[in-house]
Amino acid sequence: MANDAVAGDTLRVAPAQPGATGDPVRGVLSALTQDLVTGIDEVLAAFLANEVDSLTEIDAAMGGFAAAARDCVLAGGKRIRPTFAYWGWRAVVGGDERLPSVLPALAALELLHTFALVHDDVMDASDTRRGLPTAHRAAAARHRAAGHTGDPERYGEAVAVLIGDLCVVWADRLMAHATVPPTRLLDVRRCYDQMRVETVAGQFLDVLGEHDAAGWTVDRALRVARYKTASYTVQRPLLFGAHLAGADADSPLIAAYTRYGLAVGEAFQLRDDLLGVYGDPVTTGKPAGDDLRTGKPTVLLMLARQLAGPAQRRALERAGSVTGAREVSLLADLVRETGAVARVERMISDRVADGLAALDTPAIDGTARSALTALATAATARWA
Ligand code: IPE
Ligand code: IPE
Ligand code: MG
Ligand code: MG
Repeated sequence: MANDAVAGDTLRVAPAQPGATGDPVRGVLSALTQDLVTGIDEVLAAFLANEVDSLTEIDAAMGGFAAAARDCVLAGGKRIRPTFAYWGWRAVVGGDERLPSVLPALAALELLHTFALVHDDVMDASDTRRGLPTAHRAAAARHRAAGHTGDPERYGEAVAVLIGDLCVVWADRLMAHATVPPTRLLDVRRCYDQMRVETVAGQFLDVLGEHDAAGWTVDRALRVARYKTASYTVQRPLLFGAHLAGADADSPLIAAYTRYGLAVGEAFQLRDDLLGVYGDPVTTGKPAGDDLRTGKPTVLLMLARQLAGPAQRRALERAGSVTGAREVSLLADLVRETGAVARVERMISDRVADGLAALDTPAIDGTARSALTALATAATARWA
């Protein structure tokens, strides 16, 4: 039972270790929630098999397109959003039901996540995701292999936009498979819609930041982290789960989840920013150094600029125009030398501490508190 699973040393997560292999977070999350991650993957696989079949009937070419969308969903990932939603739900219902009747709604968060990732990779011009070519790069490769006419890259991006669109519709469709009393649906939908709007807001600000370096600050970079990631990764999945279980919108539980979710969610993105520069692509499945190549004003880079001496600041201006691996690596060293990495590590620890303090309420039972305590570490001390 999850009570036992959250009690032992097995849940301790090692700090980020460059070069480590495997997917420790997924392991920890599985240990925490036992069959949940497997259950989510099974729901997704069954749902997607059906969807791919029916799309294939429209035209033979649709089969390949739908299968590409399916593969993006099933390519792996930590399944952290359904996991937070599960604990949001579980703290309200209590007991030890392992595979809840709302499982399709929890799994739907992964479809929404795939939509966000596929579009994000187009916006960030990323080459890899979960160790594989990104959706737009894979579609461009299929264009070339088929000898189609026109620009493969443009074709790839158009296909990826559509894959993302399909995933967001699939999320709604799968969510409707969950058994939820009608009286709860309004709060559930409100939470879900707010999460989606906030994600778009965060992504817009992220894109804007890359084009408005002069208008950017550490505070604004933190706002981006809160909206583009904390909202849809931790805060609102927890609230979504709580609302699926019928939590009252004014309850202390909702207030505690909001504080925990924003703190841990921001820390999750701050870790992602560090991994994006110093992580091992073999482990993260994503390229390293892209943020430095594009000069994306992450909290890390903004802090580096703030802490840098005059000579360092001049050198940091190269962010956004470096291309070669050696230049990127020198810039990464420079960011570290300013003290920005240590500062971000402190911001992560402070946020985790704040998130854990938020759990100190009788509204959250001991089992959920233990799980959320372990998850806060797993989500922020990861190396993948
Ligand atoms: C990546 O999310 C996108 C961010 C919001 C930082 P995850 O790190 O949860 O990605 P997967 O699902 O495990 O691949
Ligand atoms: C991802 O942000 C946020 C969303 C997908 C909404 P990033 O662009 O920072 O994440 P990665 O590093 O590509 O996963
Ligand atoms: Mg990205
Ligand atoms: Mg991005």
